[in-house]
This record gives sequence, C-alpha cells and structure tokens, in this order.
Amino acid sequence: MVRYVLTGHHLALNGMTGSGKSVGGGWSLLAELVTRSDVAVLAADLTKGEQSLGCMRPSLHAFVTTKDGARALLDGVHAMIRARTDYLAERGLQRWQAGCGLVYVVCWLEEAPDVIDSLTDVGRERWLSAMKAARSAGVTFVLSLQRSDWSQIPTLARGQMAKWCFGVQDSSDASFGLSEIQAERGARPELWNNRQPGMAYLDAPGIPDERLAMPMRTFTSVLTTRSSPSTRHGGQRRPSRSIPSRPPRSARPASSL
Ligand SMILES: Nc1ncnc2c1ncn2[C@@H]1O[C@H](COP(=O)(O)OP(=O)(O)O)[C@@H](O)[C@H]1O
Ligand SMILES: [Mg+2]
Repeated sequence: MVRYVLTGHHLALNGMTGSGKSVGGGWSLLAELVTRSDVAVLAADLTKGEQSLGCMRPSLHAFVTTKDGARALLDGVHAMIRARTDYLAERGLQRWQAGCGLVYVVCWLEEAPDVIDSLTDVGRERWLSAMKAARSAGVTFVLSLQRSDWSQIPTLARGQMAKWCFGVQDSSDASFGLSEIQAERGARPELWNNRQPGMAYLDAPGIPDERLAMPMRTFTSVLTTRSSPSTRHGGQRRPSRSIPSRPPRSARPASSL
C-alpha cells in the first residue's frame, strides 16, 4: 500500500485520449480531495466541458468551462498567492500545513493546453508566476494533457511537475510523460496506448523509490455495461447515418432519457 499526498508539489497527468486521465486519474484523486474539509478544488475544462468533471460540480469550489471563466479563475489563484504566503509567514510557516487556518487549494486543469491557450500574454505570465510561488502558498496545480512537450506546456512549468503517466501514443510522448528515473528503469507506457485505460506510473514526492517505475491501475467509477457491436442491433453495426452529427433542435430534457 502506498499513500500519495498531493501537497507541496504540482502534478502533470500525461496520456493519450482514452488512457484514463479523467476517469481513472481525475475522479480517483478528486474524490479523495473533495472529501477533505480543508481542501478547495478549483477546476477548468474548456474542451470537454461538463463531461469530465461536471458530475463533481457540487463538490468543487469552482468549475469553469469557458474562456472567460478560466481567465478569471487563474487570475484569482494568482491574486490569492501573496496574501496566503504573508499569512503563513506571519505564523512562522514556510509552507502550508494542516491546521494552519487556510484551506489547501488544488487548481485542476483538464486538457490543460487549451486552458493555457485561452490566456492572454499577461495572463500566461501571471499563471507562470503563480505556479512558481504556489507551493509555498498551499496551492497545487494539476495539469491533465496528452503530451507534455514545449508546444503544449511551457518548459518552465513542466520542469516543476511530478509525473503521473498513463498510456501514451509512442515512445516520444513517453519521454515527455515519464521522469528520467522511470524511463531509465524501463517504464513503457506506450505499450498500453489507450488499450488498458487506467494503467499508469507515478513519480511524485513521497512515492517509495522501488515503486517509481511500478505500473499501477487507477480505480474506475464508471458503472456502464458495454455490449459488443455484435450483440447490439441484431448483430448488425448501426448504420453511421443514424448517429446525428449534432443534437436535434429541441433536445429532449436529460430527465426523459
Ligand atoms: N481505471 C480504469 N479502469 C478501467 N477503465 C477505465 C479506467 N479509467 C478509465 N477507464 C475507461 O476508459 C475510458 C476513457 O477514460 P478517460 O478518463 O475519459 O480518458 P482520458 O481522459 O485519458 O481521455 C473511460 O470512459 C472508461 O471507460
Ligand atoms: Mg480526459
């Protein structure tokens, strides 16, 4: 049994679409976080909107799905840093600790490159500056993304993040998702691809050395029973024209589905 504590560092979840970042990684970790009375989660998803974290909305301190919302959220995090470090310093604390009087803040960015892209140049600078000071202020950024190369996430930010790597597309993506030590010890997330969703490697503070390159499986809470295509539609594949490309004008209310 390994206990993972998220405080005091930032975390990147890497993995290709369908590898389990949101459901396996996000839901599992967020479910732990939102049940703590001294944690507030601020989340953004501009890409999949409600689909990823919408079901958790009541337990999130904030959840934004628009560009303006994301800008305001990250500006808000930037603005709170100084007041929090001052508060901690007044109590002789160099970092957040349980019982210090502040709630721990987790800022969770799903499909993070889209959130970062939505920022103005000033907003981006502020975010990077917030990220540098955040750990001393009791704030953790969690970024979920498909590939952590410089075109997706500023190198400065990537260098500061612990790595939770799900199945990736190829070895090049693996090199961005894994730490040096995981790669050196033979971790191969590209072999999972997205065929084994939920499988991952975690290199983060507090993880024992001998577990750094050990595969893990995250929990899934998706309670769906899937039937194979051969059992649906009397053995026939449903003709593609029956899959509407956009919702009907008068969509049925969700309650009637
Ligand atoms: N831990 C898990 N165990 C088994 N299946 C999982 C797990 N996590 C996710 N899945 C399956 O994989 C699908 C894609 O997962 P998702 O988290 O949406 O991927 P991503 O966010 O990386 O695109 C989910 O709908 C679910 O069916
Ligand atoms: Mg996802």
